[in-house]
Amino acid sequence: MKKISIAIDGPAAAGKSTIAKLVAKNLNYTYIDTGAMYRCVAFYALKNKVAYEDEKGVCELLKDIEIQMCPDGTIHLNHEDVTSLIRENEVSMGASIVSRYGDVREFLVEKQREMAQGGGVILDGRDIGTVVLKDAELKIYQVASIECRALRRHKENVERGIESDLEAIKEEIAKRDEQDMTREISPLKKADDAIEIDTSDMTLDEVVAHVMNLVSQKIQ
Ligand code: DC
Repeated sequence: MKKISIAIDGPAAAGKSTIAKLVAKNLNYTYIDTGAMYRCVAFYALKNKVAYEDEKGVCELLKDIEIQMCPDGTIHLNHEDVTSLIRENEVSMGASIVSRYGDVREFLVEKQREMAQGGGVILDGRDIGTVVLKDAELKIYQVASIECRALRRHKENVERGIESDLEAIKEEIAKRDEQDMTREISPLKKADDAIEIDTSDMTLDEVVAHVMNLVSQKIQ
């Protein structure tokens, strides 16, 4: 069966990675979480006490950064497993800040394209359909209301036993969206040929079924 490339973009906490992982499993495709790569750069800056706002300082760190996306879903930064460390709130905001920098984007986009070579891949992020994989056969723009996204994230935190404040989550998500949509280089926006899915009133199964349907149409 023909192996295609799938791009999923959309605002923060829209459930892109959950859907992408499930679809990748169904299709036996490789899933690439590009947000995790920006998180690695932010985490490395934090670790080295370089302020996120210090563009020159952050970009100088790039030469020392080696990111490995392992087949088991773990993410390694210079051979250290940082999978859960990069999910910290502070790193989320940092990722949104360092992702403004041209050198950071160039460095990561090149890696993402390398990993996506040959198809049979599903990438999620902010600029996949507009920049990284402009020729992807299927482009999805996944959205959900801010209330819905914040509530899902809040429930996830509670289930994991992490302290959580719904209002603070809402604020953080809104701020990140604003930053990601208004930056100069590769801002988050729907590609002209992307299909928008509003998941606010959909179950996980419904979203996966919908995406699988779209994939079938492209493969046939
Ligand atoms: O998907 P995420 O929430 O893990 O992404 C973290 C940040 O990284 C996001 O706020 C903006 C940035 N990002 C980006 O600029 N381009 C991507 N393709 C993926 C993420």
